[in-house]
Amino acid sequence: MDIPFSKVPLAVNEINYVTEVLKSGWLTTSSKAHLFEKRFAESVGAKYACAVNSCTSALHLAVEAIGINKGDKVLVPSLTFTASAEVLRYMGADPVFMDVDYDTGLITPEIVKEKLDIHNNIKAIIIVHYGGQAPVMTTSGNQGILDLCRSKKIRTIEDAAHAFPSKYDNRYIGSFGDVTCFSFYANKTITTGEGGMLVTDDESIYQRAKVMRLHGINRDIWTRFTDKKASWEYDVVAPGYKYNMPDVNAAIGLAQLEEAEWFRKERQRCAAYYMEKLGAVDCIDLPACTVPTEHHSWHLFPVKIKPSAAVNRNTFIELMAKEGIGTSVHYKPLHRMTYYRETYRLDTHDFPNTEKIWERTVSLPIYPGLTEGELDFICKTIHNIVNK
Ligand SMILES: Cc1ncc(COP(=O)(O)O)c(C=O)c1O
Repeated sequence: MDIPFSKVPLAVNEINYVTEVLKSGWLTTSSKAHLFEKRFAESVGAKYACAVNSCTSALHLAVEAIGINKGDKVLVPSLTFTASAEVLRYMGADPVFMDVDYDTGLITPEIVKEKLDIHNNIKAIIIVHYGGQAPVMTTSGNQGILDLCRSKKIRTIEDAAHAFPSKYDNRYIGSFGDVTCFSFYANKTITTGEGGMLVTDDESIYQRAKVMRLHGINRDIWTRFTDKKASWEYDVVAPGYKYNMPDVNAAIGLAQLEEAEWFRKERQRCAAYYMEKLGAVDCIDLPACTVPTEHHSWHLFPVKIKPSAAVNRNTFIELMAKEGIGTSVHYKPLHRMTYYRETYRLDTHDFPNTEKIWERTVSLPIYPGLTEGELDFICKTIHNIVNK
């Protein structure tokens, strides 16, 4: 068998839309990127969307636009990709790392509250929708993470790199926090090759992100070469970045967006298969699904190999690879990464759940088109390895 960890599914219209772009003679940002922004905003129920070249760029623009500055403290889970925290360092701000819940890999209102009780100067929080499901965002008693943060005027940035299309309380992720950032990297739930999207309902965040996305130029200049009436003149109002999404990538994104719900259902089918076939294996912890299964994007399916298994996580990965099954690890936590550990003198004892996850976690293949035969082979191989 040769089952890769991840495989990019093709929708229907990628080649058609990319061909339109190539024939138009205008390869960088223009009408396809604008249309992708419009359709994406509509699909998550946000007012504004700003297409960029990665989720990392979107996160950077988000923290810049909400005014995170040197010395500001921002909550972020340790169980995430470095992009979630590195953008704070771009601004000279300091991440305050949080532990997560063992079963879900998500932050909880209790974890956030504990940090807010210790630190009285937190300016913002980066909420990571680990694997594709949202943590407890809001509750009827106003005890959710967003409720807690809003009551203390803490700005909320959602790292939704894994979470499209995902819902919480019947609303799409992208319609909750001050600003939400998505990834369209090649292994994500929809892709543009490389790409990202910032969405918000706050016009001032949107306007700032739009200006900073393209060199700090104060107006839309995409039409300056194509529209005969457009003025050539523009001004630079800030030292911005070069983060725009070219139309070639947006064309792929538009096609993928059309099939996003089908892709999600396919991932859900794989997750259901794993849940059923691995549910009775004592030495494996399956990921806890805390939202209805159809509200989860199922970007990841991370299982945990318990100490009672015949092998540890690393040997498990090697044996799976020998059988031709690709896996991955999400994540080696940030408190273990040299830069963050040394800069902030982080101690593993402050992250007990994250540590347990890190020692045990392995992500299984999950993507549209993974066949029942392949899923069956993966599950049988896992049974053989952990019960040997
Ligand atoms: C949680 C999380 N945040 C941010 C990113 C960065 O995304 P991008 O590669 O689009 O910059 C990733 C990428 O995998 C991620 O997993």
